[in-house]
Amino acid sequence: MSTTFTLDTSTSRAHPTPAPMKRLTVPAITARKGKEPLVMLTAYTARMAQLLDSHCDMLLVGDSLGQVIYGLPSTLPVTVEMMCAHGAAVVRGSYHAVVIIDLPFGSYEGSPEQAFATASRVLAETGAAGVKLEGGETMAETVAFLTRRGIPVMGHVGLTPQAVNALGGYGARGRSNAEHAQIIDDARAIAEAGAFSMVVEGVVEPLAREIVAAVGCPVIGIGASAECDGQVLVIDDMLGMFERTARFVKRYEDFAGRISAAVETYAGEVRAREFPGPEQVYAPKP
Ligand code: KIV
Repeated sequence: MSTTFTLDTSTSRAHPTPAPMKRLTVPAITARKGKEPLVMLTAYTARMAQLLDSHCDMLLVGDSLGQVIYGLPSTLPVTVEMMCAHGAAVVRGSYHAVVIIDLPFGSYEGSPEQAFATASRVLAETGAAGVKLEGGETMAETVAFLTRRGIPVMGHVGLTPQAVNALGGYGARGRSNAEHAQIIDDARAIAEAGAFSMVVEGVVEPLAREIVAAVGCPVIGIGASAECDGQVLVIDDMLGMFERTARFVKRYEDFAGRISAAVETYAGEVRAREFPGPEQVYAPKP
């Protein structure tokens, strides 16, 4: 699968043409339960979406953009406006992957009606296919309310970063028998309420496998198990943009190091008057 790039003369930036690709659908994602593993990454910008699109089944506009893009201390201050702006950019930059957008903290927990108002706004303003929300048994009624009204919902159980203050940190979950049982109940409740898929984050590996067996929808793991129906990572983490990451992150690149080296070279050339060179300057008309 490939995307054709054309040059937009008004912006001097390459934009992919939509023709060669057909976007996957939410039912196609749900049908992958127990089959070929689903590939999901976060994306927050149009250009990154262009680069990831043909490799991924789903792109998640995660509220992790709070830390990754905005330098915030947690996901809690993220707003619906931020999610809409980045969500629309990712939809514009993709033609194949299903785009899912996180509902930010405080925009959906109050009532099913509040969740519907936020989710319908997010889908209308971005063109994304579905929303993700955090929480287990207590959010089941909301998941059912949205699903019955035509809004595809991806659940998120286990380590739920929006609950960092209640959980006391970002440590792995499910180590005690009581926590293990609660997380299984959470996953079952969300699946029975109609979630088309769910993220299971930061749980002990046997618990992740138990959840995969316990629910009928695809389970996307992050810090979970290779036995999950798919995997997700934060794109900047897997590209090595940060010095410190969670244990469950595998760095496939060292972009922080490469950017630093490239900028060091540039700075040296500017200071030595070696940049711009003859190839980068305009000759007068002959
Ligand atoms: O916000 C996010 O990026 C997420 C993923 C880590 C699953 O929720």
